Amino acid sequence: MTAPPAIRVQGLEKSYKTLNVLRGVDFDVARGSIFALLGSNGAGKTTVVKILSTLLKADAGTADVNGFDVTGQAANVRESISLTGQFAAVDDILSGRENLVLVARLRHLQGPGEIADELLARFSLTDAAARRVSTYSGGMRRRLDIAMSLVGNPPVIFLDEPTTGLDPEGRLEVWQAVRELAGQGTTVLLTTQHLDEAEQLADRIAILHEGRIIVNGTLAELKQLLPPAELEYVEKQPTLEEVFLALVGARKDTTPREAR
Ligand SMILES: Nc1ncnc2c1ncn2[C@@H]1O[C@H](COP(=O)(O)OP(=O)(O)OP(=O)(O)O)[C@@H](O)[C@H]1O
Ligand SMILES: [Mg+2]
Repeated sequence: MTAPPAIRVQGLEKSYKTLNVLRGVDFDVARGSIFALLGSNGAGKTTVVKILSTLLKADAGTADVNGFDVTGQAANVRESISLTGQFAAVDDILSGRENLVLVARLRHLQGPGEIADELLARFSLTDAAARRVSTYSGGMRRRLDIAMSLVGNPPVIFLDEPTTGLDPEGRLEVWQAVRELAGQGTTVLLTTQHLDEAEQLADRIAILHEGRIIVNGTLAELKQLLPPAELEYVEKQPTLEEVFLALVGARKDTTPREAR
């Protein structure tokens, strides 16, 4: 018997008035794995994350997180997750450590100082712990934001575009933090428009397009969807970006050529 998935989504539908954003979304995320949800702007990635984190109700379908139904057991789901949105929730005036202690206090945890110190060490922020967050780099802030979302050790975390707006170094720092999370058994669902991010981090990658998951597999499986391009005698493997554009482009191609 395999363990039940950390996240199970079946037949999820959501419309905003007449806009049918999700039209039957299905996927599972295995415990302790990193799952990347890819899609163009407006594909519905944030909508999926909001439904899974109980901020929004689906019109149809079911979603379980950590074994709890997002509609019927919303409180259990909320206790099982943390959500890091695109805009960091850190307080600029406080130090990194103070931010963490504050969250631990708000969650009524024992030993907030120790919890803060452990997370600061885990995210390489010990040296900057006492400094005001206003002096942090973008990467440090985002790392602190992820650290704050881990106070209380939620088994499932949602990262909605965790590296948008970061420079390459900041992205590497966040990637490292995310890898460590999964290494410790946390399940991570991240959304991204950066295909290299999915290539770097994800155990499985799903592409959300026109309301449905059009592919879901490992990077190797996705790459096999396109034959390797042959260039003289050199074989070139397609990048995930080429796979993405071939799949999404092929389905988007409904506009007359002259109108594009
Ligand atoms: N509250 C809302 N009311 C009306 N339309 C909405 C609402 N929230 C989202 N939408 C629309 O639903 C679609 C999906 O939005 P969503 O934010 O889920 O996309 P996304 O994949 O996260 O996009 P991005 O990559 O830009 O973050 C978009 O067309 C968006 O304009
Ligand atoms: Mg979004």
